[in-house]
Order: sequence, then structure tokens, then C-alpha cells
Amino acid sequence: MSGKVHVMDHPLVAHKLTIMRDKNTSVKDFRELVSEIGMLITYEATRDLPLTTKEIETPLCKMDAPTLAGKKIAVVPILRAGLGLVDGVLRMVPSARVGHIGMFRDEETLIPHVYFCKMPKDIAEREILIVDPMLATGGSAVEAITEMKKRGCHAIKLMVLVAAPEGVKAVQDAHPDVDIYCGALDSHLNERGYIVPGLGDAGDRIFGTK
Ligand code: PRP
Ligand code: URA
Repeated sequence: MSGKVHVMDHPLVAHKLTIMRDKNTSVKDFRELVSEIGMLITYEATRDLPLTTKEIETPLCKMDAPTLAGKKIAVVPILRAGLGLVDGVLRMVPSARVGHIGMFRDEETLIPHVYFCKMPKDIAEREILIVDPMLATGGSAVEAITEMKKRGCHAIKLMVLVAAPEGVKAVQDAHPDVDIYCGALDSHLNERGYIVPGLGDAGDRIFGTK
């Protein structure tokens, strides 16, 4: 069975994505929106976190109130562009640890290359949320998930802002145990491996490098 694809069905996400897609949106606004949508998708990606209860006292009475069961989480951005999403995730899950995986895709072959990997020591015990704004051919995400599994991780989710059907299929084929959370599922990839309509090069737009 394939992993599920959760496409955000929310007016705030749709509205913010439209501003991001607009080529006239500034680097500052683009960066802020990546973080804001990151926060909103985190809300959905953490829906299944286990709860326990603890006794507290409200001004009126005692109650057994719900509280997070303390599951250990690590957010893993795929550098560079994934960095833009970390802040949004951490605002929702402040106790999460952060592991970094550096990867770029060769512009000719579209094959991803890993150039950096630094994870928390107890990464194998943590639930992993890999974050990257773009899921295009899926090469980078598939490779990042493989790297995490090599390190003993088994509960992995992937969070992206925009996905192409080609990338979704690649992840589902290679890692059927991984659910994908995305802001939008776009039409297709162009001949250069860019998502259409997409939002262009996410890394360049977050960091202002073009
Ligand atoms: C972009 C993006 C993803 C990857 C998606 O990164 O942030 O990591 O491409 O493409 P894929 O699904 O076809 O692998 P890029 O390689 O441009 O590096 P950057 O984040 O440093 O800009
Ligand atoms: N990487 C990006 O930043 N944008 C795309 O459309 C595809 C890959």
C-alpha cells in the first residue's frame, strides 16, 4: 500500500500560496510566507500525535486535561530551501530537535547529491518530519528518506509546499510507508524538472540568490 498524500484544503494556505507563486512577490514576503505555510501544514502533519492527560486545577475545579504524550520529534530540512520551513515547524513544536541534510540536484541530470548530514544523536528514536518546499522529480526527497532509514529511522513524514504528481509517485514507489503533507498538488514538471505552475526556484526566492 502507498503512503497517503494529504493536500491542504484550507483557504489560508491557498491564499498564501497564491502570493508566493506570484513572480513579483519580494524575497522578504516570500520568506515569511514559507514560514507561515510551514506552520499551517505542521498543524495537519501533527494531527496524529498521541495525547495523555494530567491533572490541573482551573480557577473553577480540578480536571484531567489533555497534554502531548511527549513523543520525540525531529524536523529535518533538506538544505538549502528546506531551512525556510524550520522556523514554522518549531513555532508549533518547540521541543523538536533539528537534523540537517544538505542536498542539491544536478541541473543537467536532475540527480540529487548529498553534501552534508548532521543529525541529533538519538535520531533513530525520533519521529521524523523531512521538510522541503518543493517535491519535483522526487529524487531529493527519496534520497533524504533513504538516508534517514540508513540511520535507523522508521517513522518518517514528508512535508512540502508544492508537489508534482511525478514526485509524489516517486516517493510512494520508493517509500510506501511515508505519508506526504503538501500545500498544493500541481499539474506537471517541465522539461527542466520545474514544477508547473509552481513558484520557481524556491531556494533562490527564499535567499534572494538570483
Ligand atoms: C530544490 C528543492 C528540492 C529539490 C526538488 O533544491 O528545494 O530540494 O530541488 O527537486 P527534485 O524533487 O527533482 O529532487 P535545489 O537542488 O534547487 O537546491 P537548493 O535548495 O540549494 O536551492
Ligand atoms: N526545485 C525548485 O526549487 N523548484 C522547482 O520547481 C523544482 C525544483
